[in-house]
Parts: sequence; structure tokens; C-alpha cells
Amino acid sequence: MDEDFLLTADQFFAQGLPTGVTFDDVTLGTQYSEVLPQAAIIETTLSDSIALGIPIISADMDTVTEAKMAIGMALHGGLGLIHYNMPPEAQIKQVARVKYHVHGLIQEPITIGPEKTIGDVIALVEEKRYQFHTFPVVNKQGGLEGLLPGRVVKRRYRNKPVTDAMLSRKEVFTVSQKDIEKNPIGAADKFFDGHVGIHKLLVVDEDDRLRGLFTLSDIERINDEQHSRLKPARDDQFRLICGAAISSNRSPEGELDKDALVGHVGRLVDEGLDVAAVSTAHGFSKGVGSMVRLIREQFPSLTIVAGNVTSGKGIEFLADAGADAVKVGQGPGSICTTRVVAGVGVPQMTALYLASKASKKRNVRVLADGGITKSGDIVKALTLADGVVCGSLLAGCRETPGRVIEIDGKLYKQYRGMGSKAAMREGSAARYGHERGVTSKTAAEGIEALKELAGSLQTTLETLVGGIQSGLGYLGASNLAELKEKARYLRVSPAGQLESKPHDVIEVKTGDKNT
Ligand code: XMP
Repeated sequence: MDEDFLLTADQFFAQGLPTGVTFDDVTLGTQYSEVLPQAAIIETTLSDSIALGIPIISADMDTVTEAKMAIGMALHGGLGLIHYNMPPEAQIKQVARVKYHVHGLIQEPITIGPEKTIGDVIALVEEKRYQFHTFPVVNKQGGLEGLLPGRVVKRRYRNKPVTDAMLSRKEVFTVSQKDIEKNPIGAADKFFDGHVGIHKLLVVDEDDRLRGLFTLSDIERINDEQHSRLKPARDDQFRLICGAAISSNRSPEGELDKDALVGHVGRLVDEGLDVAAVSTAHGFSKGVGSMVRLIREQFPSLTIVAGNVTSGKGIEFLADAGADAVKVGQGPGSICTTRVVAGVGVPQMTALYLASKASKKRNVRVLADGGITKSGDIVKALTLADGVVCGSLLAGCRETPGRVIEIDGKLYKQYRGMGSKAAMREGSAARYGHERGVTSKTAAEGIEALKELAGSLQTTLETLVGGIQSGLGYLGASNLAELKEKARYLRVSPAGQLESKPHDVIEVKTGDKNT
């Protein structure tokens, strides 16, 4: 009897007249379970080389993801896609900030020459926006001469030569490169244990040339990670992973500037970029296909996310062009007006079903992008997709770049669609096919909005992860592959939708809105 009501994806989505359904239209049938929610593993992959500890990606929107957010996402096992509403140089710096954030051993520390003044160092810190102020002092041959501690990098000392303010070579703690080969982090951990109050350890070779730098805070963070529930997503050099959106900017004649595109992606890759996201409103189009193909040809091992599409054919098209993962969603987003303005789009669960069917033919990952308002939506999305892209759910966090606005004593964060006129004026017009810029006649496909200030990203992500694990527990799924296998769907009536939320009570304490 159960099988007549709780249907597999193939039975459910093909049933009856073609009807588009979204998250609230469906519910998942519970299953016999031996899985404790905390034990459910929600790791995923975006390509054969990029693994995430949690299947959540922060959207490449100018009120959602810049370096601070991307650092936070990667520290908790997810991924941030840095938006492109900024000059190319600025985007490269944002990616660099993420990649430099926490290293075990910093193999190429930023150094300064002994001929510099403290004023030169301050200018360098400001120009590059470094988050640190301690620099090894190294001569032209690479020889270590001393260490300039952060406490002297102050304007009042700006005219002093670095050599007057630095710790001299014999005062600096160093370790030989060959002594730490086997277990660099363990060696540094032991050193800091035995040297109370010392925060930096430099690595040198036989000729006393600088080969690396350990900092106590990095080593402590790495130790903390071993006990933390959400483990950071790192590359093979132990740096946080980072993604960036790539714009489809074209000349007014519609030509793609291939040299500029390849040059920009190349510079991002030089900084350590892990994921390039070709983000457009209409990914099933000739221009987006050729852009993805070009990036794939030039950067064979780079992970490429492309989109957005809402059909199986769209998935196959972008997979054939070289995408590793495809974003699915046209118009489901909280700030989107594409469906209203253009009359197109497919409700998200149906779009994801079509995408998941096609993805199996091409071995490409599917990302559910937009319309996710609670952790239950993520569970539903993950029955058909490999990850979710969130804007609104994360936009209220302290780490987002949006402005904080106070209204009647309440704090809000600015959140706007990349297709809103304000955002398009700052660069995202090409995403919506407006190559010639934005005028009063341009049809916006997004709105400007506010989100209540939501506290830290860590709390938000922990709550979402708890909800996702709970979903896996109800389905008896110990990981996301089992979730896909075990998912059974049931259509929910309008009365059923009301029943799903708190009702017929006077709410005195609001539960977490995301779960
Ligand atoms: P949520 O629902 O998470 O959606 O806020 C975020 C996703 O919405 C897409 N996006 C837009 N879509 N007009 C649109 O039609 C817009 O102005 C717009 N801005 C963002 C995007 O895919 C994002 O990840």
C-alpha cells in the first residue's frame, strides 16, 4: 500500500499531466532507520577534484559572497563563489585573501627587503589589504636577515628603517627545512608547546634562505579543526578552497573578448582559484557554451560550474561544453522576477528532476540554485542534486558584504538580485543579456530587498546542517547517495502545506526560521 502513495522520483514526476512542482508542493516519506542524525555524512563533490564537507555553496551575489564570506564557507566545509560586480583586479585580490587565509606551513611568505622603512611596509599592507603585519626580512639573495614584528608596524615609526625595528637574525626562531619534512604541522605544534609566548617559527634551508613560516594561530586552528563538527574544505596545499564567478561580458557587437577572459581566469588560477563559475541567467545558449568550452580548453584541470538551466537538454549542453557541475534554477530565487518579467522558468523540484535524469547520462553534478528558504528544502533538493546554492538563507549573516541598515531599532542587511537595476549597473548586466548597459528601458529581473540580521555564519550553517542530518535520519540514509536512493515523494495539498507549519497556536517564541 505504501508504494501506491510514496513514489520514486521516476513515478512521481512523470505522473499525470506535466505539472511543475517546487519544494513546498512535495514531502518526503519517512523510512525505517538505523541512522542517528549526527552520524549522517553529508559530504559531496563538485568535480573529481573538489570535495566539500557540506553541500552548501554561497551564491555569487554582490550582497552575499566576498572574501570574508568565502573564508567562512570554506572553514565550515562549504564553498563561497566570489561575485563579479567588481573590477577584475579586485576579484583577484578577494580570491587571494581567501587562499592566504590559513596555511599550515606558509611556503612562500610575504617578505620585505632590509632597505625598506616601516612606512613602506604600511603602504604595502594597505595596498594588498594584508590581514597580517609581521614580515620576515630577507635580502636579495633570499637570505634571512630578521623578522619585523607586527607591533612595530605603526605610523609613529614610519620613518625608521626596518633594520632598526626588526628582531635580528639571531633573535629569530628557525627550524631547518629537512628536519620537518616528515611531519611539518606536528613539528611546529611541538615547537610552540615548548616556546611559550612565541607566535612565529621560520623555516630555512642549509644556506639560511627562508623556505617557510609557521604561525601559532594557524597551528591552533588546525588543531581545533580536528574536534570541530564542520571541517574546513581545503586544497592539496592545505589552503581553503575558493570559487569565483566569471562574467560573460561581451563587446557591444556581442563578441567575447577571449584574451581578457583567459587572462583573468589565468590570474585567478595563479592565486589558487579552485572553482570557476560561469554564472548567467540563461546557460543553455550559444555564448555561454562557447565560454565554458574556451575555459575548459585553456584550463583542463580547473573545476567549472556553469548555468543556469532548467532542462535536461541544458544540462547535457553545458556538460558537453566542459562543465563539471551545472546550476539549476531560473526564477526560483527570493529576489528574482524572471518568471514574472519573462514568463519563463520551471518550478524547482521539477527542474531538478529533469536535471538529475540528464546528469546521469553525462556524469555531471547538479546544483540546486535559488528558492531555498529552510533546511527541509535542502533535504528535498539533495534527493535530486549534489549541492545547493543559497543567497537569501545566508544573506543576513554578519560575514556578507551587504550594508547593515537600521529601521525602527531593528537591524537588517541589504540583499538584492544580481538582475536588479542597481546591481546590473555595477557589472552584472551581461548575466541577463544586456551587453549595452542599463537604461531606463532595461527590464530588471530582480529586486532590492532586506534580510533581518542573522548573526554568525557558523550558527546559521550549524543549524542548517543539523536540519539536513535530521532529514537523512528520517529516511534511514547514512549519506547523500543513500538519500537519493531512499527518497519517496508525495504531493502535498494546500491544506497539507498549512499543516506543515506551526498553526492554531499563538507563537510566543519563534523557532529558528531556517529549519
Ligand atoms: P535565493 O532564493 O537563495 O536565490 O535568494 C539566490 C539565487 O537567485 C539567482 N539570482 C537571480 N535570479 N534575478 C533572477 O532571476 C536576479 O536578480 C537574481 N539575483 C540572483 C541566483 O541564481 C542566486 O544564486
